[in-house]
Amino acid sequence: PIPNHIAVIMDGNGRWAKQKGAMRIFGHQNAIKAVRDVTEGCAEIGVKYLTLYAFSTENWNRPKLEVNALMQLLISTIRKETETLTKNEIKLETIGNTCDLPEKCQQELKEAMDLTKDNKRMTLILALSYSGKSEILQATKRIAEKVKNNVIQPEDITIETIGNHL
Ligand code: IPE
Ligand code: MG
Repeated sequence: PIPNHIAVIMDGNGRWAKQKGAMRIFGHQNAIKAVRDVTEGCAEIGVKYLTLYAFSTENWNRPKLEVNALMQLLISTIRKETETLTKNEIKLETIGNTCDLPEKCQQELKEAMDLTKDNKRMTLILALSYSGKSEILQATKRIAEKVKNNVIQPEDITIETIGNHL
């Protein structure tokens, strides 16, 4: 059986580069190859959703140089890979507070999502400026708003309600 949804927490890029006597960013650059392999592999075997935890809210605390390099890498990678995504019928989506990302990054993402929105084979979800806690916070606010407006009653809130508001 093929999983419907696979999520990958990327880690160890910096350590991998350090072992090779290179800068951390060298690890991030090389990780793109792994991302490409995993994405194409998943699409090929029939996985429907692939989530890549690419940049967490905590990652903003890294040195500015590394954060900037990661943003640059994100911009250039999206631009380069959109064509391959289309060829492989992969739709691009994001989760997280993408409004925190540099304007240029948001633009590239928007363009790539627009161009790939009708692709049906697999959905690639990039978690960017993402945190599980902030996702729960946002869902809670949305549900609280509905309770306030009498759209739902507190006793009717189920696990599904929470899931639907994530
Ligand atoms: C994962 O690798 C990539 C990102 C979080 C952007 P790390 O950058 O966490 O590399 P290590 O874990 O420090 O080696
Ligand atoms: Mg790490």
